[in-house]
Amino acid sequence: MTDERAAADPELKKFYKKMETHHLAPLWEIMGRLAPVKPTPRARPHLWRWKDMLPLIEESGERALLGDGDRRVLGLINPGMDEGKWAATETLWAAYQYILPGEKAPPHRHSAAAIRFIIEGSGAYTTIEGDRCILDKGDFVVTPPWVWHDHGNDSDAPIIWMDGLDIPLVRDLDASFFELLGDRALPPEKPLGDSEGRYASGHLRPAWEEPDLSGSPLFVYKWARTEEALRRLAAVDASPFDDVVMEFTNPATGGPVLATISCRVQLIRSGVRTLAHRHTGGAVYLAVEGSGTSVIEGMRFDWERGDMFVVPPWAWHEHAGAGGEGILFSIHDSPVMQSLSLYMEEAYGEGDGHQEMTGIFA
Ligand SMILES: [Fe+2]
Ligand SMILES: [Fe+2]
Repeated sequence: MTDERAAADPELKKFYKKMETHHLAPLWEIMGRLAPVKPTPRARPHLWRWKDMLPLIEESGERALLGDGDRRVLGLINPGMDEGKWAATETLWAAYQYILPGEKAPPHRHSAAAIRFIIEGSGAYTTIEGDRCILDKGDFVVTPPWVWHDHGNDSDAPIIWMDGLDIPLVRDLDASFFELLGDRALPPEKPLGDSEGRYASGHLRPAWEEPDLSGSPLFVYKWARTEEALRRLAAVDASPFDDVVMEFTNPATGGPVLATISCRVQLIRSGVRTLAHRHTGGAVYLAVEGSGTSVIEGMRFDWERGDMFVVPPWAWHEHAGAGGEGILFSIHDSPVMQSLSLYMEEAYGEGDGHQEMTGIFA
């Protein structure tokens, strides 16, 4: 107990000690920390540069000779958070995964929900509930909780993808399960591209099926369709805070692809400078193409292809196209905030709607 009143009053100090031995705490001493007047995230804005990451990713291919069940994954550890939390934000895990030709992860399932975004390489695969999806650069993949899946690289070049999972949240909720398939039979193989054949149009689904509300029945979202949608939206409208931003949707519901993670793609057009805002919920961004600038809590982050960066909860942020357009992919825990009635958003009210810049991230 770190309390000035107790330090000045030995009897009070003794009383607090007695409480402590009975596993009690005086709310009047901890109220400000237990229920702060506004969010006080430990996660800090931070950027992981592709040019620093790529040599480490490649070195992991030489040094980490992994067994069948392991993954060669370099996870983003937020510098503001305790060791042992192993997370990019309090709720999100994000990482670079490197898979050499011929490598594969055996079938398994976990209660954490997962997404992947292919950064480099083509011709890897993931099989989700018997649906084998071929993955190329720019493709986005959803693995709903507790479905059997595997993945591997049958191409002749390494593949690098971004992993995003809700592991930190699931672990904090003590709801983490992980299982290897072992000797059991795999779910029956479906025709190649099964979920795409059924749901990829986005506005039509097989009429004899009832919508599945638990997670997206579409497992892979191909880059060509994603980019086309972005360009179509850019021709008609944009958000003042995010420029041309779109959410990947569950085609059965129109809602987020996962109950815990919203995934977005956004085009920051050349010369555009968005207004600043903040909201509850944290996010991890991946620069997919081009370059740009984001100002987070007054700090300027210049990003280019392959970089990842974190926007913590309730942090002011705005984006700008710096001398060319940039495309960002991002994962957000906003569905959690929304379903718990904790989503709050605020526009930056001062001056011209932009933050005062206090530094440049080096
Ligand atoms: Fe997995
Ligand atoms: Fe935002």
